[in-house]
Amino acid sequence: MQHWIDKTVAHVKAVLQHAEAGHDWFHIERVWKTALGINKAERADELVVSLAALLHDIADPKFNGGDEEEGPRMAARFLEEIAVPPSAADHVVNIIRFMSFKNSFDKSAFSSLEMQVVQDADRLDAIGAIGIARAFTYGGFKNRTIYDPAISPVAGHTKESYKQTTAPTINHFYEKLLLLKDLMNTATGKQFAAARHEFMQTYLDQFYREWNGEA
Ligand code: ADP
Ligand code: NI
Repeated sequence: MQHWIDKTVAHVKAVLQHAEAGHDWFHIERVWKTALGINKAERADELVVSLAALLHDIADPKFNGGDEEEGPRMAARFLEEIAVPPSAADHVVNIIRFMSFKNSFDKSAFSSLEMQVVQDADRLDAIGAIGIARAFTYGGFKNRTIYDPAISPVAGHTKESYKQTTAPTINHFYEKLLLLKDLMNTATGKQFAAARHEFMQTYLDQFYREWNGEA
């Protein structure tokens, strides 16, 4: 089992060598570590959890012309190459295919305990202190403004109302990051998410205070 993991680590590091900072090898490493931590309580299949965590972002559609199948396809090819048994490989590929935030609203989509563990770990890396850093990194990468009171979600602007412009990064907190704690699957995931959520709320309160010239 360890040799499959070692080979996958080396492969993912190589593929993500030039990745944007929010999606780099360190993101993968954090998700992997967190997933194994969550799995201490969940006791899902550890090989599947590890391989899915390691391979979940090898081809993000956001950076691949929107092709949703490129990631699962690359993972499948690689797992076959290193001769991971087909039952485990198919499971990993399904996790990668159905784990995204977008697919998570499709009730008919694939699910398993292994997927729930990895999905929780990935979502946890989008919230809290690291989540804040990743959001602003992504926003900077896309040349977004930090915040704009004229298109603030707090003032009731919706995604539709700024479709023609590009949303400031603060808006992303309201569109996604603050929603994640209620989408957690596992007990450990929920517990971690609650603390990280509270930290983001504190951060946003302070952000608006400073924006308004307060201490
Ligand atoms: P994942 O690692 O779960 O695949 P995503 O690919 O959706 O997550 O996003 C990666 C990181 O980039 C996350 O931390 C997410 O919050 C951030 N991000 C994605 N879209 C935006 C956006 N429009 N503005 C700011 N941050 C974003
Ligand atoms: Ni990810």
